[in-house]
Amino acid sequence: MEKKDLDWANLTFSYQPTDASYVCNYADGAWDEGGLTPDHTVTLSECAGILHYCQECFEGLKAYTCEDGSIVCFRPDLNAKRMADSAERLVMPPFPEDKFIDAVKQVVAANAAWVPPFGGGATLYVRPMMFATGEVIGVKPADKYQFRILVTPVGPYFKGGAKPITICVSDYDRAAPHGTGNIKAGLNYAMSLYPYEKAHEAGFSENLYLDAGTRTYVEETGGANVMFVDKDGRLVVPISATDSILPSITRRSLVAVAKDILGLEVVERPVRFDEVDDFVECGLCGTAAVISPVGKIVASDHEVVFEDGKDEIGPVMGKLRETLTGIQAGTIRAPE
Ligand code: COI
Repeated sequence: MEKKDLDWANLTFSYQPTDASYVCNYADGAWDEGGLTPDHTVTLSECAGILHYCQECFEGLKAYTCEDGSIVCFRPDLNAKRMADSAERLVMPPFPEDKFIDAVKQVVAANAAWVPPFGGGATLYVRPMMFATGEVIGVKPADKYQFRILVTPVGPYFKGGAKPITICVSDYDRAAPHGTGNIKAGLNYAMSLYPYEKAHEAGFSENLYLDAGTRTYVEETGGANVMFVDKDGRLVVPISATDSILPSITRRSLVAVAKDILGLEVVERPVRFDEVDDFVECGLCGTAAVISPVGKIVASDHEVVFEDGKDEIGPVMGKLRETLTGIQAGTIRAPE
């Protein structure tokens, strides 16, 4: 199979239609068989639930070419489970997890020529999504849905890849306490677009959101979870007492890499923003971001500079990134 003639080394994180998407529809209480389609468009009723009440959730995972030319996907089982959790919270029929994994395999195989070659850092981004196609006018769940997967070859999420970025503390909130912050619903990201534009205009790469209830605790950024390294070399991972942080699959893997491969101590706990001054490294993690170093966080009254990672990725974030990407591309064996 010949790879597409793309400038793999200079791909950005943007959409490029490929040979096929996967589509499956739900009606009369059941999902249909589903299958591949070359059609990258969706036709909807003007009254479809997605257009009015935002009944939608999505996922993000990646496919990689290994050194021997084989193509692998990283933990699609965990995306399948998280999507089922998101669907349940949004009163959508969960997409069967085994069918999800099979759909990912089918669409990746059909687009093998679009999976970037080994070693260049680019990947095939896989974006499963589910949305209400059934007609609703009163506020209630729809009775018809579409599950779809698009794939697109991508480069780094943040320009410059592993170069430290500067982010700002947002004056806006991303997710309400006990709201939908812990699921992968498009509506959470809609909330972040206005603050994102404001942050960009002011020269920042992202927003750091604090908990909406007290504006005391660190939650996450618009598109990624956050983690820190303290002065004693511990990995500090914020968790939310109000369940408003997305359970990132990449974060879960990084915690395992830190504990089981790098032998680091990992502390998962609520983190107050006023503690962040004491940390020496910071990174944003997610499927898209992998782990991208943050050199500086700017708040309204002061700046936090991460001494060990301000000019280039710090030693701990660097090791985490190298190890995780090695496991994903098959050059490093994950422990059983
Ligand atoms: C991902 O990391 O895959 C995400 O879905 C985050 C994002 C690009 C919104």
